[in-house]
Amino acid sequence: MRAVLLLGCSAAALAPQTAPPRRGVAAAAKKKARAAGGFGAKPKPPKRPALGKAAAKLLDELGGDVDAAQAARFDSYMEKLRASDPELFADVARARRCDPAAPARGRDRLLAMTWDTVADYLPVETADAALDARLARVAAFARGRCLDVGCGDGAMVPHLKARAAYCGVDLSARMVSLARRRHPDARFERAGFFEFVAGGEEAAWDTILFVAALQFFPDVDAVLAACAARLAPGGRVVVAHGRGAAFVREERRGNPAVVEALPAVEDLLAAGGFGLVHAEEDLDDFYLVVLERA
Ligand SMILES: C[S@@+](CC[C@H](N)C(=O)[O-])C[C@H]1O[C@@H](n2cnc3c(N)ncnc32)[C@H](O)[C@@H]1O
Repeated sequence: MRAVLLLGCSAAALAPQTAPPRRGVAAAAKKKARAAGGFGAKPKPPKRPALGKAAAKLLDELGGDVDAAQAARFDSYMEKLRASDPELFADVARARRCDPAAPARGRDRLLAMTWDTVADYLPVETADAALDARLARVAAFARGRCLDVGCGDGAMVPHLKARAAYCGVDLSARMVSLARRRHPDARFERAGFFEFVAGGEEAAWDTILFVAALQFFPDVDAVLAACAARLAPGGRVVVAHGRGAAFVREERRGNPAVVEALPAVEDLLAAGGFGLVHAEEDLDDFYLVVLERA
């Protein structure tokens, strides 16, 4: 798959819960399922929303190349921002250059625009059954009231039984609107994690999930402190990445402006206030660490 200008890396690498489009394979599978028909036919996968008009037009113009369309879409968001808010645009440009003094709002907006762009093209991505099985294992550690940080398009929702007690939060407005369309019975809020928990009540959550999301936070100690302040006694922090820590290190090489390496278990525990419930044996392959508030 072609590398794109989007933060200097492949857009597929930025969408770790989705696989690159394999339309030919998907179409063949559909045909087979239709031919089988009646009893024994596989249930149809959930309907995916169509691409938005502007995203579809770009994709057409670029001959169906999703990476190129994502890169062009990202550039168009940048141009819009330059015109509407030149100061914020300058902060985003600094974050993009990995300027350590770039204001946090520049990094947050860069992340939001990046994920808005990924969300624009998620409807053409296909599901990944192996990854889905790992998400189910992650969900098995969640209980009670769950806050899903960096929820994206709501990939965890089908795996969590008590949807009424679920809330997904994400910086990207487009991810949140996709999540709401896909899972109309679940609650989603567009906000950054720190902003969201600062406005909430103490002991509000039994589980705080970071699925393919913790690598976007430069200060893990601050994240854990914010979690400890908002978790009920005995509450859990579940940190996961279905493609593992090695994948994230690769992602970081392409995107040092916004991606951090996933922490070692000792580093998570060193922050204090949490005991270890579970850590997967090979975190490079499948990162799953479950912590419990002491
Ligand atoms: C790799 S996606 C994962 C989406 C989803 N958890 C999944 O597993 O499919 C990471 C998501 O984290 C969001 N994100 C990054 N930093 C965030 C922050 N500070 N607060 C809230 N969401 C954030 C991004 O907008 C993006 O949608």
